[in-house]
Amino acid sequence: MRNYMQFLNPQILCFLFFSALLLCLVETKSTIEPCNSSNSCPSLLSYLLPWDSKLSEIATRFNVNFFDILASNSLFPITPSSAHQILSAKSQVKIPISCSCVDGIRRSMSTIYTVHAADTLASISEGYGGLVSAEQIKIVNAINATNPLTYRGTLVIPLPCTCFDNVNNGGNAIYMSYVVQRRESLGSIATKFGTTVSDLETVNGFGEATVDPGDILSIPIAACSSATLNWYDESMIVPNGSYTLTATNCIKCTCEPTDITLQCVPSGLDVPCYNLRCKGSNLIIGDQCVDLSQTACNVSQCVYRGHRGGKILSSMKKSSYLECPDSLCHSGPSCWPSSSPYPEDPFGMSPKPSPSLPLPVSKAALRTLASSGRLGPFLFNVLQLFLLKFIIYFLI
Ligand SMILES: *[C@@H]1O[C@H](CO)[C@@H](O)[C@H](O)[C@H]1NC(C)=O
Ligand SMILES: *[C@@H]1O[C@H](CO)[C@@H](O)[C@H](O)[C@H]1NC(C)=O
Ligand SMILES: *[C@@H]1O[C@H](CO)[C@@H](O)[C@H](O)[C@H]1NC(C)=O
Ligand SMILES: *[C@@H]1O[C@H](CO)[C@@H](O)[C@H](O)[C@H]1NC(C)=O
Repeated sequence: MRNYMQFLNPQILCFLFFSALLLCLVETKSTIEPCNSSNSCPSLLSYLLPWDSKLSEIATRFNVNFFDILASNSLFPITPSSAHQILSAKSQVKIPISCSCVDGIRRSMSTIYTVHAADTLASISEGYGGLVSAEQIKIVNAINATNPLTYRGTLVIPLPCTCFDNVNNGGNAIYMSYVVQRRESLGSIATKFGTTVSDLETVNGFGEATVDPGDILSIPIAACSSATLNWYDESMIVPNGSYTLTATNCIKCTCEPTDITLQCVPSGLDVPCYNLRCKGSNLIIGDQCVDLSQTACNVSQCVYRGHRGGKILSSMKKSSYLECPDSLCHSGPSCWPSSSPYPEDPFGMSPKPSPSLPLPVSKAALRTLASSGRLGPFLFNVLQLFLLKFIIYFLI
């Protein structure tokens, strides 16, 4: 059983913590996770777009990088121009946020909103699709007659989140805050997110299975974790059906929906990437090859192992089958002879793959390459993310 306070009733809440005070004043219920550590954890918001918005506007609204919104929603292509992509009103967008521990409960307080002319607390709240009420914004920012909203002033937007140690039913999970809509039931929500009513009840601690529009539920999303993959100096947890970019955007790791495993391949982004090839082989990360003999079917796979000091780490993973798995042996590529036409770099830093060489690029990498386009010269160093953030700020 998890340690949570289920849909606390207002009277109980009112004498808990100062921070919980704001919940006394709203009619809707939301799931609260008490916490006592200062560490934050990854979580998601399910954001129902109140109006048509550019991806860059959504990113600014939540103070997150739009690359991370692309990744959480498995959107392509991964290029700066995607920031101009317009998502229509009523789209449900997953927003990745860091869930911190504030005054004893899990909450995200990292979103800062800059007040525009003609804004009211109600209109600001509406912009966040029901994730935060006008009253909550008012209380957290101590807005009153003597401390009114000021044009260009900034507000902290408290957003609901939970982590529950990123586990659910013994598996890895990321929790998503979801605002119940009209005509929705626990059953329909469970179906929508591939979970069950009983799981939702357990996570949210219901006595009875009813929810009302505006309630905020925590929805467990199965996730892939790198914990069992023996990575060096890196760990990640990626929700089902999302990808994440890592190793200075050189590697894209996808949580495969079919078997909830992490598949990492070169991102194909136009950034300088070294060491994409496994040592002593012609395979690059994500590739596999098959050695067939009469007695065995040996599969070698070049797998990502994390990154350290700007260096991408990888290793060969070998599996031996008595009989070839169908998916591999009839279509799998043969392992190349070990006399590689590409010399190993003596310092372990392989050269940047030259487009003129017939590199054994994986199908997945080719797909990404084909769809990604060119990023432009400003992406050409490790400052790229900072620059992007900066650019997004001034684009809109
Ligand atoms: C911190 O919280 C966790 C879970 O809520 C609980 O198991 C643990 O005992 C708490 N530790 C302290 C020192 O209060
Ligand atoms: C408004 O809030 C401030 C603190 O932020 C407080 O000092 C002041 O007394 C409040 N004014 C009214 C009218 O409630
Ligand atoms: C992962 O997501 C897919 C849909 O994207 C779903 O069909 C599948 O059941 C999910 N897997 C788990 C373990 O939740
Ligand atoms: C396959 O692997 C086994 C053990 O790992 C090895 O003994 C055998 O020679 C390999 N066969 C081929 C064709 O590489």
